[in-house]
Amino acid sequence: MSLAEQFEWFADWCVGTSSLYERIARGIANDPEVLTLAEEIPPKRGTPNILLAAVHWHLLDDGSHPLADYYPNLTDDPKTDDPFPAFRDFCVEYESELLPLLRNRRTQTNAVRRCTALFPAFSHISNEVGNEPLAFVELGPSAGLNLCWDEYTYEYGDVGTFGTGECVLDAEVRSEKIPPVSVDFPPVASRIGIDLNPLDVRDEADVRWLRALIWPEHGDRQRLLQRAANVARQHPPDLRQGDAIEDLPAVLMGIPDDVPVCVFDTQMRYQLPDPAQDRLRARIEAAAQERTLHWLSGHEATDEWDNAFTLDWFDGEEYRSLAAYEQHGKWLRWLL
Ligand SMILES: C[S@@+](CC[C@H](N)C(=O)[O-])C[C@H]1O[C@@H](n2cnc3c(N)ncnc32)[C@H](O)[C@@H]1O
Repeated sequence: MSLAEQFEWFADWCVGTSSLYERIARGIANDPEVLTLAEEIPPKRGTPNILLAAVHWHLLDDGSHPLADYYPNLTDDPKTDDPFPAFRDFCVEYESELLPLLRNRRTQTNAVRRCTALFPAFSHISNEVGNEPLAFVELGPSAGLNLCWDEYTYEYGDVGTFGTGECVLDAEVRSEKIPPVSVDFPPVASRIGIDLNPLDVRDEADVRWLRALIWPEHGDRQRLLQRAANVARQHPPDLRQGDAIEDLPAVLMGIPDDVPVCVFDTQMRYQLPDPAQDRLRARIEAAAQERTLHWLSGHEATDEWDNAFTLDWFDGEEYRSLAAYEQHGKWLRWLL
């Protein structure tokens, strides 16, 4: 896809969930000067996300530019006329401040509500290994909020509420099959994340980047992020800077052989080039020959389930889909 096509695609993706970004993205797709600025973003990083987040990052710090008047999280009475001229002015005026973010930052949206799909999947795997404590290894954890999954409370409507944590994650269950959750959370032996660029919830600039990646209309996600970041500050996850594929074997070697492992990733694999996807699969399959290892991978929107993502499970022998979930975890269907 050309850059203009990427912004058009992104605008379509925003329909119904962010009218502000939809309109700005369509404006960018037709503006050669802003597209030239977007060329500064290295490929495979989610160019539209990075440009919009870089602008948002600055507005969160200083909302004095007229563009802020269009952002529903920055003003009580957002303007409704075309936001693109103000966006364009901002990009021209703040180009030198934007460039370091465009060149160095990544799409690292840490959507903690995705844990509403992970929690039943972890429970399922825990049952599979006879409730032995699991060593969790997350690939592409961003700030590691989802590694703190057992600190949160889960509300699944009629299915019930599980946990006592102050950060409450709610999700609608859209399947007849009930996700296998209970008040007894799966026991944890250890938790480690491997990310090319781990974000630190104690660092103001990193937390602002996480906030900036959330679309301005999504106030509930902003609130959840703040609560989950507070949890992660109290229970800092062990995050290792590295490549999920190249560094996975060393991380696995550090986990005692008799401890069952649950490797998981959500919305990370789309950032890998195809050959790296194949290498990741091969590494995991090889590791599963040597020890008890399960892999959960949340990836790829599928039309079959209203454009939801699928959570696939590899048990060491075969692959099955455990759940379909809305991209940010607002609902799930349990499939097994
Ligand atoms: C969109 S974020 C998803 C974060 C988190 N998994 C979630 O679902 O909220 C993707 C993360 O994957 C990381 N990532 C991408 N490629 C990677 C690689 N080869 N090795 C390790 N991390 C990678 C990025 O740095 C980023 O933090």
